[in-house]
Amino acid sequence: MKILVMNGSPTAESRTRGIAEYAANVLNEKGIEVSFFDAGKDRLPLFTGDMAEREDEAVRSLSKAADEAEGFFICTPEYHNGMSGALKNALDFLSGSHFKNKPVAISAAAGGGKGGINALNNLRTVMRGLYSLVLPDQFVADPLHFNEERELSEELAALRVSALADQLIELTKTVAANKQNLTEE
Ligand SMILES: Cc1cc2nc3c(=O)[nH]c(=O)nc-3n(C[C@H](O)[C@H](O)[C@H](O)COP(=O)(O)O)c2cc1C
Repeated sequence: MKILVMNGSPTAESRTRGIAEYAANVLNEKGIEVSFFDAGKDRLPLFTGDMAEREDEAVRSLSKAADEAEGFFICTPEYHNGMSGALKNALDFLSGSHFKNKPVAISAAAGGGKGGINALNNLRTVMRGLYSLVLPDQFVADPLHFNEERELSEELAALRVSALADQLIELTKTVAANKQNLTEE
């Protein structure tokens, strides 16, 4: 089973990356083949619809990884009550053909308090537009869940991400076992 983990934060020092790296490690430990897209490192051009952008190395690599993935673990920062522009830009290079009937776990890093929920509602809506199967469960991390290196270090937060990874694996297995019953177009 292949899972693509996505860090949707464009920043160099990112808490969202801390969630994504934790999820990738947990999935790896559970025997899953993981590929990793990092919006802060795998710099994509701005999507304009120009076909030449499709030849960009980072775009091609993202598209290939999304194509091969059977499931996704997508992490976004909450910026102004929504997902990051960098993540939306990355998703705009992809389409329903990459996501249709594929399970997706979602998680956000926010500023604290009641932050994060709007970014995840926003991401959930976008993932519905891509015909993916977003898990009902989700997780928002507050700054206090990270250490100074921006690693996800708080015990309960780590358990929540691990539980999301378990749910993602379970649904991805179920979908794989019933693939012939799902419409392909
Ligand atoms: C431009 C910008 C907008 C933000 N807007 C929100 C917000 O609406 N709600 C919130 O809870 N936190 C907000 N924050 C705080 C970030 O969600 C928080 O710092 C998070 O850790 C950012 O993720 P990152 O470290 O991966 O970039 C904002 C931060 C920035 C830079």
